[in-house]
Amino acid sequence: MSIETPTLELPTKSRRKVTTAAIRARKGGEKITSLTAYDYSAAKIADAAGVDILLVGDSLGMVALGYPDTTRVTLEDMLHHTKAVSRARPKALLVADMPFLTFGVDVRDTIRNAGRLVQEGGAEAVKLEGGVRVREEIRALVDCQIPVMGHVGLTPQSVHSFGGFKIQGRDPEEADRVVRDAVAVQEGGAFSVVLEGIPAGLGARITREIGIPTIGIGAGPDCDGQVLVTQDMLRLFRDFTPKFAKVYADLGEASREAIERYCREVREGTFPAAEHCF
Ligand code: KIV
Repeated sequence: MSIETPTLELPTKSRRKVTTAAIRARKGGEKITSLTAYDYSAAKIADAAGVDILLVGDSLGMVALGYPDTTRVTLEDMLHHTKAVSRARPKALLVADMPFLTFGVDVRDTIRNAGRLVQEGGAEAVKLEGGVRVREEIRALVDCQIPVMGHVGLTPQSVHSFGGFKIQGRDPEEADRVVRDAVAVQEGGAFSVVLEGIPAGLGARITREIGIPTIGIGAGPDCDGQVLVTQDMLRLFRDFTPKFAKVYADLGEASREAIERYCREVREGTFPAAEHCF
């Protein structure tokens, strides 16, 4: 006798595989949707809901591994989670973050590390933080046929040099620097760029001035798309919720209530009931 309940397949809308070319083609068109995913089950749910890009973000260091920031995330951590997400075989484009110091040191290491995320992890593109500083590395990866998503503005791996998670580009010089970074990412050959933690007006300006899609997180409504950390929008991560993260459902509270009910029923002896017994 099987102890399994029948698989409940999620009602996935039939849709084509999302590619980097398809994302590029959305510049100025239908808005791009992206969410983070760090494991198989979450990837299947977000994919069934029709998200365009699943990002195995190094934010997993904070919301899944409990670190204070993303600087302690290793390439092995990213490989572990990217493999789990790729086993969901999503229709969404699968992008994996390059963690702190796995790029930006030696270009051959950058290629080897990105290559592992693709070859071993199953990522279809990598994301790396920085602009002017990493333009040539982006070019080298693209030359090796590894698609790259850029990430400028409030780049969380720079938390220590920024002196905290601080909104970037508030004054004119800083704004020009963020624009130069976004332009450099485009010049390197990236297919899209994340704009994080910048004033909405600057998000709109960069979106107008560059030819690749901008994907905003705390960068206003005029970007070509939006990305959120799933644990923020579902309130599964409860240490803090950034201002830019709209809460779509409080699954943290719903989970706590469900677990309380389970504990109560076990203690009362009302679980398991007849239908859970053999
Ligand atoms: O690591 C991450 O989840 C990210 C997104 C917030 C863009 O980089």
